[in-house]
Amino acid sequence: MSETTPLLSVRNLESGYGDLRVVWDVSLDVWPGRVTALLGRNGAGKTSTLRAIAGLNKVSAGTVELDGRDVSKVASHQRVRRGVAYVQEGKRVFHRLTVEQNLILGGYVRRMRRSALRQEVSRIYDLFPVLGEKRAMLAGSMSGGQQQMLAIGQALMAEPTLLLLDEPSGGLAPAIVGEVMERVQVLKETGLAVLLVEQAVEAAMSVADHVTVLDIGRVVMDAEAAAIDDLAVLRDAYFGRVQADRRTS
Ligand SMILES: Nc1ncnc2c1ncn2[C@@H]1O[C@H](COP(=O)(O)OP(=O)(O)O)[C@@H](O)[C@H]1O
Ligand SMILES: [Mg+2]
Repeated sequence: MSETTPLLSVRNLESGYGDLRVVWDVSLDVWPGRVTALLGRNGAGKTSTLRAIAGLNKVSAGTVELDGRDVSKVASHQRVRRGVAYVQEGKRVFHRLTVEQNLILGGYVRRMRRSALRQEVSRIYDLFPVLGEKRAMLAGSMSGGQQQMLAIGQALMAEPTLLLLDEPSGGLAPAIVGEVMERVQVLKETGLAVLLVEQAVEAAMSVADHVTVLDIGRVVMDAEAAAIDDLAVLRDAYFGRVQADRRTS
């Protein structure tokens, strides 16, 4: 465990869709300046967990604490104001708008003044130089990887402290996945707390400081990334072959 206080603490989260429970008992932490990778096979409940943290799915039991305050009953737009940004899986940008117009739209959630918007946009260009180079181009003309970076940039316009990323590598060529992970590395170095959901385990492990693995809506493994010297351990966790004594935190 890290010595610093987590920015996000989820405890015994239970959530789902209507009466259907798909997240049974999830606890995890995300720290400022660090990446927690949330892994697990398809259908494990990763996206549902992110949706509950973002306030899009109801928390039926347990707590979501942000900076020491319970936000589990707080509306999603209020959580955005409190620093939560969520880049959904397969997030689409507006193809017929320019890169810059897409970014400016991202700033509207904060009702920023024009000068603050400009400042924010140039901060995003510093983080993602490719977006600066292509600022006047239509978003739809960019590659999949660049569009993913634009989607992240758009979320960053709200000046979050916590970034929830759902499978940013999804649908991207392996070479591009590395580039996206490099940007995630840069983002965490700015002090942002990142919760990274991934199917691409090795890519996620290249930036992860902490790892939480889910299976069927429950945590089956929770460990510091540095303590995982063998990715086979992760694979076992994926397929439910984890001993109770492995559930260390
Ligand atoms: N909108 C929905 N309505 C009902 N069930 C859903 C919905 N979305 C996902 N589920 C179910 O919730 C479970 C967890 O899904 P999900 O959170 O998307 O997993 P993951 O992101 O790990 O692949 C799955 O059994 C899935 O079928
Ligand atoms: Mg998912």
